[in-house]
Amino acid sequence: MEIRLVSAPETYALRNRVLRPGRPVEVVDYPQDRLESAFHLGAFIDDEHVGTASFYNLQNELALAAAENPPAEELWQLRGMGSAPEYQGRGIGTAMLERAYFELAARGGTVLWCNARVVALEFYRKLGFLVLGDEFFVPDIGPHYVMWRLIP
Ligand SMILES: CC(C)(COP(=O)(O)OP(=O)(O)OC[C@H]1O[C@@H](n2cnc3c(N)ncnc32)[C@H](O)[C@@H]1OP(=O)(O)O)[C@@H](O)C(=O)NCCC(=O)NCCS
Repeated sequence: MEIRLVSAPETYALRNRVLRPGRPVEVVDYPQDRLESAFHLGAFIDDEHVGTASFYNLQNELALAAAENPPAEELWQLRGMGSAPEYQGRGIGTAMLERAYFELAARGGTVLWCNARVVALEFYRKLGFLVLGDEFFVPDIGPHYVMWRLIP
């Protein structure tokens, strides 16, 4: 498996297939992709795109408090995390996050947070993320929790 930095448009097909199947591809063109800080990781097996994850230098009140108020610019959001269905459970998500920690630390990041789908809570828990606050509902997607961890 190879993990490399990719552009936002390169993530769209896999984001669409894994995170918003059956919806128009425009729904996975996130406004945050336009942020200067944004970067995206792609996982590839034999040049097939099998994993995607995106990162934005954005803060979150719950994660800020849980981390005991580091400078807000040290917080990063993980979004658009997905592995191709036929490859899930084979370590792609874990490998992308391990690469992400390196990329985030190089950018001064100390805290990573996400809006985690309830169906993916166990994945994030296994990777050291903790739940914060109350469950909330994202229309068309389902229940979520904010989760966070320190960037190692
Ligand atoms: C969640 C997701 C990104 C995980 O990616 P992955 O490549 O399957 O992750 P890994 O293979 O590295 O899994 C790491 C561990 O978490 C477990 N795991 C992965 N997804 C899980 C899930 N949804 N529920 C419970 N456990 C899960 C794996 O079995 C593995 O456990 P192990 O270490 O005991 O073997 C992937 O399953 C996915 O794309 N799901 C659909 C989209 C989605 O829900 N994305 C998250 C949006 S917030």
